[in-house]
Amino acid sequence: MNQDKRIHHSGLQQKICSAEEAAQWINHGDLVGVSGFTGSGYPKAIPGALAERIKESHDKGEDFKIKVLTGASTGPQMDGVLAEVNGVSYRSSFNTDPKMRERINNGDTTYFDMHLGQVAPFYRSGAVGDMDVAIIELSSIRSDGKLIASSAVGNNQLWLNSAKKVILEVNSWQPVELDGMHDIWEVSTSYPQDIIPIRTPSDRIGVHYMTVDLDKVVAVVETNASDRNTPFSPPDDNARLIAGHLLDFLKDEKKKGRIPQEFLPLQSGVGNVANAVMEALSKGDFENLTAYTEVIQDGMLAMLESGKMSVASATSFSLSPEKVQYFNDNISKFRDKIILRPQEISNHPEVIRRLGCIAMNAAIEIDIFGNVNSTHIMGTRMMNGIGGSGDFARNSKLTIFMTPSLAKNGAISAIVPMVSRVDHASMDIHAVVTEYGLADLRGLAPRQRAELLIEKCAHPNFRPLLREYYKKGLNSGSFYTPHYLKEALSWHERFVATGSMLPK
Ligand code: COA
Repeated sequence: MNQDKRIHHSGLQQKICSAEEAAQWINHGDLVGVSGFTGSGYPKAIPGALAERIKESHDKGEDFKIKVLTGASTGPQMDGVLAEVNGVSYRSSFNTDPKMRERINNGDTTYFDMHLGQVAPFYRSGAVGDMDVAIIELSSIRSDGKLIASSAVGNNQLWLNSAKKVILEVNSWQPVELDGMHDIWEVSTSYPQDIIPIRTPSDRIGVHYMTVDLDKVVAVVETNASDRNTPFSPPDDNARLIAGHLLDFLKDEKKKGRIPQEFLPLQSGVGNVANAVMEALSKGDFENLTAYTEVIQDGMLAMLESGKMSVASATSFSLSPEKVQYFNDNISKFRDKIILRPQEISNHPEVIRRLGCIAMNAAIEIDIFGNVNSTHIMGTRMMNGIGGSGDFARNSKLTIFMTPSLAKNGAISAIVPMVSRVDHASMDIHAVVTEYGLADLRGLAPRQRAELLIEKCAHPNFRPLLREYYKKGLNSGSFYTPHYLKEALSWHERFVATGSMLPK
């Protein structure tokens, strides 16, 4: 494995041990801070060894569960293995692992969803207690003990500062050339906080490395394992149509001088639809784009390579297996064009507002008055979490939410009378896009928004039903936000009861 090329500090070389030995440092009830963000840069060996320990304890009838704080989602070797043995009592934040999702939804794991830019301030508030252990994936360790993050920065530096014990996983699958791509800058912990001196996405304000009190490092584990690298579904017709409407809107905004000639930094959400939009942008007419976002997806990599995008600032990668291989093989092409920052900086309201980002995120459902649900299925089951969508939606110059008009083969309308959960309130939403069109909601009162969303964005199968609902609201005498409360969530109830939002 040639790990000696990755761990250059002699003291830390002495601490190299197996994942099983490292896992012995973690105890029942511990609060564990873990690296990783959107399937990148998470530990891959120690969680598996810990899961074995947990299973053995459970088999003996002993309690063994840990509390976990992450950057964002990890992968099967972290959330997956721990969920399998029911080893997590509390977890925050964003999760996409299906097994962990199941634990969260069946009540085995307490889940605290929150804005990804707020995880660090939340931890510092003291509300969740002191961190016992940090498990941090690295790409290398320098001879002076400086730590080089891998494919995600997340909350790593804060976890390294805060944990009583630190375990490092040095992953030789991660390109050593990541050294130089990170920009570690810590926000001040007293108030008023220092101004974050980022004026363009390309500004580097910190250092390339992370630091740790070496005496706290109890174990160093060597690994060679790939990130999660979930394949994206190839853009389907709906995704292409959504991307087309979005691009036309941005072109028009630019023509009207509302977006400057040099354009504004893009933020792109996670998921298949967001990735399709990036792909469309990579083939579109815009030049000299930049990104100030939280994850770098396939489409963004293509734009960086073609020169359409000059720089992308994020906190992690979320690439498909082919693209990650391509990136790792060609990293020198991207080295000066990608900056990975702590998530508190990539998602910081101050910077997002100053740069005037264009935020493009996917939604689960949107109501006729323009409120957005990004997190809940039928108001009760957690999907993934709010991620960074709220950090960007609230603070960007332009906030756009997109979704196919239907889900589950047409049984569900994404445009509903009332969302079963509000993650983004209508005042934060500037435009909504489905495959049928884009509704520009800026400056519109609820009634105007409803008429536009029904006629422009809803699927034709559901338009008559939405019109009927809206009319019932008006007939019941409400002329500002004409809800008909008796039936506001009846579509969701119908789906739960019959498997379709359409009446039989
Ligand atoms: N009701 C029920 N299920 C729905 C639904 C609805 N209205 N809309 C979508 N879904 C389901 C889909 O059927 C699919 O389910 P499956 O995995 O069982 O096939 C799943 O949700 C994902 O939908 P998909 O259309 O593939 O969208 P996506 O991959 O683009 O993800 C979100 C959409 C909203 C789930 C995802 O973007 C997300 O988690 N967002 C919140 C966090 C965020 O925005 N982060 C970015 C900030 S930088």
